[in-house]
Parts: sequence; structure tokens; C-alpha cells
Amino acid sequence: MARRSSRLNPIPSMGLGLAGDGMYDRGFGGRIAVPLDRLPAIPCYELSGVVEEVGPGVAGVAAGDEVFALTRFDRDGVAADYTAVPAELLAPRPRALSHAESAAIPVPALTAWQGLFDHGRLDAGERVVIHGAAGGVGGFAVQLARAAGAHVIGTASAASRESVLDRGAHQVVDAATRFEEAVGPVDVVFDTVGGERLRRSPAVLRAGGRLVSVAEDPPDGGVYFIVAPDHDQLGSIARRADSGELRPPAVEVFPLTSAREAFARSLEPGRRAKAVLAVAADVT
Ligand SMILES: NC(=O)c1ccc[n+]([C@@H]2O[C@H](COP(=O)([O-])OP(=O)(O)OC[C@H]3O[C@@H](n4cnc5c(N)ncnc54)[C@H](OP(=O)(O)O)[C@@H]3O)[C@@H](O)[C@H]2O)c1
Repeated sequence: MARRSSRLNPIPSMGLGLAGDGMYDRGFGGRIAVPLDRLPAIPCYELSGVVEEVGPGVAGVAAGDEVFALTRFDRDGVAADYTAVPAELLAPRPRALSHAESAAIPVPALTAWQGLFDHGRLDAGERVVIHGAAGGVGGFAVQLARAAGAHVIGTASAASRESVLDRGAHQVVDAATRFEEAVGPVDVVFDTVGGERLRRSPAVLRAGGRLVSVAEDPPDGGVYFIVAPDHDQLGSIARRADSGELRPPAVEVFPLTSAREAFARSLEPGRRAKAVLAVAADVT
């Protein structure tokens, strides 16, 4: 609503599976519709920027505030010089990080948070398997689960083993092997990969264990969900990033004039950094 909007000068990240035709299909199994009814549509749903102006009645956000956000998927995105965003979606951005790093955080970190704690109900002392532990979502999941006092087991390719241990995993299982044979019963499986790894996951769950996937529908009893904006969770994530408890992914920044190249890069298999669009020259 306009009354509760702020105008921002953002650096929206490309998101992962969030913008562009192919990504809508790849990222969410077609669950988020390409907005064919309102083209041309503005892509990208993550931003970091400076509040330019607030609407009447807005409290808690003021012009000049440095903020970041995940915006709603049923609206146009934020790859624009200015965007109007409901104030309740904005959280103070991590000041220890650059705007580009801040813009790369909302989707993977909120996805990891909601997968582990809202849907997986992970508790201190529990055991969790995180599939795709070297990825954007998996990397945050490893860090958040470890900080929550869980025993963290990641699956990843052999080449990613060290980076997953470095994020705090207690154990890393080579994704090319049968993880069921290396892992005892666990309380939660959080999957970011899908396919065979997801289908074989019930074998490692203890009775009453929880299976959560953001890649595709899990077998019977499991939960698939789509990440949602959450101001409080994002605020906590920012504070943890500022304290050094959470590390952001590597980013590759593109000017808005190279948006096509940025989208193409974000779709490259095996890419090692998250593509971020810099839409304002004075915000870095
Ligand atoms: N439902 C939702 O709300 C939601 C939200 C976000 C994402 N998703 C989906 O979740 C899935 C995973 O997303 P993601 O963002 O985590 O994907 P990603 O960053 O591309 O990671 C996928 C895989 O790429 C490899 N990789 C990526 N970065 C790496 C690095 N720096 N170093 C080494 N290996 C790296 C890892 O595999 P190896 O083990 O082979 O090294 C990783 O598991 C996607 O299907 C995405 O669309 C869903």
C-alpha cells in the first residue's frame, strides 16, 4: 500500500531461482508464475539500499536508513533505481557488510532459517542433515544450525568439503557416496538438492523425524515450502552477520546495463558467486 511504502535506492540481487523466465521454472518447480499478464515486469526480489522517502503514517523507518529486504513474489521486483516497498518488510542491513553482500543474503538466509526452524522445528542437541551444504541456502543452513546447537551433517561434492567444514559442519558426506550408510538416525533432513538425495532421505530419519525440502516435493510426510519475507528473522540475520556469526556468500556485482549477462551468469551450472545488480552508482 502506498501509505506504508518507502522509496529506496537499492542494489537488488538476482536472487536464486527468483527472476527471469528460466529461474521461475527452475527455482520453484513452476509454483511461482511468470507474470505473463503484466509484462514488462521488473525482476528481482532482494534488495539492499537507502530509504529515500517514507509514506504518511510509516513508523520505524526513516529517510536515510540503510535497509535490506526480501519483497513479495506477487508484485513487481526491485531491479530499478527506485522501488516502493512496504515498510514492514524492511530491516536494518548488516553494516559490517557491503550493500552487494547484504543484497545477496535475504533469500538464502531466510530460506535456511524457515526450513530449519519454522518447518523443521530443529532444536539444540538435535542432529540435522543438510543436503547441498556448499550452496547458497545450504551454507546459511549449516551456519544457523551450528549456532543453534545442533549436530550438523552436510552432504556436498568432494570439492566443496572444506568450505562446508569451514561454515561449521561437524561432518561432511561426499554426495557421490550413499549418505545413508555414513549417517546414523537424525531428527531433521533439510534438502536443497532434490532428486535421489531427497528420495533416499527417509532412510536416515529417526521415528518422528522431519523432512523439509526447498528443491521439490519430498516423499510422503515431508514438507516443501516457498520462502516468505519476515522482518524479525531478517533483523536477527543482520545482527548475526554484524557479529561475524553469519558469513555472506561470495558475490559478483554487475551494473544494471549488464543485467542480461548477470542473469545468464546466475544460470551457469557450477557458478561460485551470487550475481548482484548494482542499480545505483552511489551505493556500493
Ligand atoms: N523453495 C524456496 O523458497 C527456495 C528458496 C531458495 C532456493 N530454492 C532452491 O533451492 C535449491 C538450492 O539453491 P541454492 O541457492 O542453495 O543453490 P546454489 O547456491 O546454486 O547451490 C547448489 C549447489 O551448487 C554447488 N555450489 C554452489 N556454490 C558453491 C560454492 N561457492 N562452492 C562450492 N560449491 C558450490 C553446491 O553443490 P556441491 O555439493 O556439488 O558442491 C551446491 O549444493 C535450488 O533449486 C533453488 O531454486 C528454493
